[in-house]
Amino acid sequence: MARFKLAVLISGRGSNLQSLIDACADPAYPAEIALVVSNIPDVLGLERAKKAGIPTAVLSHKNFNDRESFEDALDAIIREAEPDLVCLAGFMRILTEGFVRRWPDRLINIHPSLLPAFRGLHTHERVLEAGARFAGCTIHFVRPAMDDGPIIVQAAVPVHAGDDADSLAARVLAEEHKIYPLAVRLIAEGRARVENERVIVDAATPPPGALINPAPGETA
Ligand code: GAR
Repeated sequence: MARFKLAVLISGRGSNLQSLIDACADPAYPAEIALVVSNIPDVLGLERAKKAGIPTAVLSHKNFNDRESFEDALDAIIREAEPDLVCLAGFMRILTEGFVRRWPDRLINIHPSLLPAFRGLHTHERVLEAGARFAGCTIHFVRPAMDDGPIIVQAAVPVHAGDDADSLAARVLAEEHKIYPLAVRLIAEGRARVENERVIVDAATPPPGALINPAPGETA
């Protein structure tokens, strides 16, 4: 059977892109990457794509006078690859409502917080500042409002005493690399669909138990 085709949009390091590349390397995985687009030239993510033999494109937003003309060009490049799904993976440009509406339930994003908490930038600093006991990451369908949209998969991690933003980011990132391939698999297999702006996952296995932080044993 033909595999589900992905276009992955990046702006930098591309470690989430790499998690998708690694997942797609398994012939049993139901998706493949048709195109990687970066809005920044010479980023590590582009190297990762080239190394994996994936076609790449660079579209610098700086070469356009306004967001709409940048997005028209971006849309055209993506459409040439005929993807089933567009994956934002550390793509650090806000997309306008006009662009988002061209990809209804076919555009997903990864965000390094447990949405709807901590939308926007500097999530880990803000989690620490708030004294939250958990941080995490979310894969969601994109809606016009920033970091908004039906949630597909989330992972929660504990905040440790002594964490700084870097140590917390690393703990969250390790989970990002698990949930992006999982979310794509659920969509590619037709098991995740949007109903009334919520995602229904068919045959989902609930995770066991609950996380408590600090663990009760440590406080007794
Ligand atoms: C990831 O942590 C991702 O969650 C975040 O940028 C990083 C990209 O890393 N995305 C956002 O903050 C989107 N608002 P990567 O380039 O190594 O995948």
